[in-house]
Amino acid sequence: MANNLLKGKRGIIFGALNSQSIAWKVAQRAHEEGATFVLTNAPIAMRMGEINELAKETGSEVIPADATSVEDLENLVSKSMEILGGKLDFVLHSIGMSVNVRKGRDYTNENYDWTMKGLDVSALSFHKVLQTTKKLDAVNDWGSIVALSYIAAQRVFPDYNDMADNKSYLESIARSFGYHYGVDNKVRVNTISQSPTMTTAGSGVKGFNEFINFSEQMSPLGNASALACADYCIAMFSDLTKYVTMQNLYHDGGFSNTGVTQAVIDKFGE
Ligand SMILES: NC(=O)c1ccc[n+]([C@@H]2O[C@H](COP(=O)([O-])OP(=O)(O)OC[C@H]3O[C@@H](n4cnc5c(N)ncnc54)[C@H](O)[C@@H]3O)[C@@H](O)[C@H]2O)c1
Repeated sequence: MANNLLKGKRGIIFGALNSQSIAWKVAQRAHEEGATFVLTNAPIAMRMGEINELAKETGSEVIPADATSVEDLENLVSKSMEILGGKLDFVLHSIGMSVNVRKGRDYTNENYDWTMKGLDVSALSFHKVLQTTKKLDAVNDWGSIVALSYIAAQRVFPDYNDMADNKSYLESIARSFGYHYGVDNKVRVNTISQSPTMTTAGSGVKGFNEFINFSEQMSPLGNASALACADYCIAMFSDLTKYVTMQNLYHDGGFSNTGVTQAVIDKFGE
């Protein structure tokens, strides 16, 4: 269902690793809606080469960039404007990684070098993206920059570990930078807090299968899929949401406002 919502708009999409990635679906939907964009990911994530298939499908170029490197980001942003033929209208930050989670380190026994690495990749990189695009004056008025978050920023989900802290920081950056970017450049900055989704990053969390089922039962509309998340990103990149900024927007089938559901109560009666 294409409505030319992004016709003539240019962007950068971070984080398409494979066809399950939320960013992958966003790229497909952005293409359908008439956008042109550059795809990017960490050089190490490109070893499998899957991103090239997406680039071919969407007529995009790929520029590798480690989102923790300001030098890589400057190169990415300036080359993207050259390739796309002008300033950007949207950016998707779809990046997350915790070394403590990956290596099975408990939240009460963190390796702080790993904590700092995860914080840099998952949260500070968003500030770096924003600061780089702002310094290079790379985004048009009313442009829209979105990062993906999770409700563990507000509520405890024990196995989400230090990613919970990273997401809190990420959402805070959207608010704080969104203020300055709005006042100075009329650029909007938001986070979308997505349901648990079966992707490479998601399935790295311990007990994810059980958890995704729990979340499904706890959400009046059920879990939002990666494709539905992509649709929401498209809406946020479009001109139909021009006055939405500095927000954390729940895209979770109602999970965030639900105390309990009848489906969950029934499980306890079994
Ligand atoms: N899957 C879920 O359950 C879920 C729920 C809510 C929010 N999110 C968030 O959505 C976003 C996308 O994750 P996903 O679920 O699509 O998984 P994914 O594994 O497909 O995407 C994560 C991406 O981050 C990239 N990345 C890691 N380190 C990087 C670096 N240094 N520089 C640039 N890119 C780097 C990876 O290469 C990968 O493409 C993440 O922010 C994640 O936390 C996911």
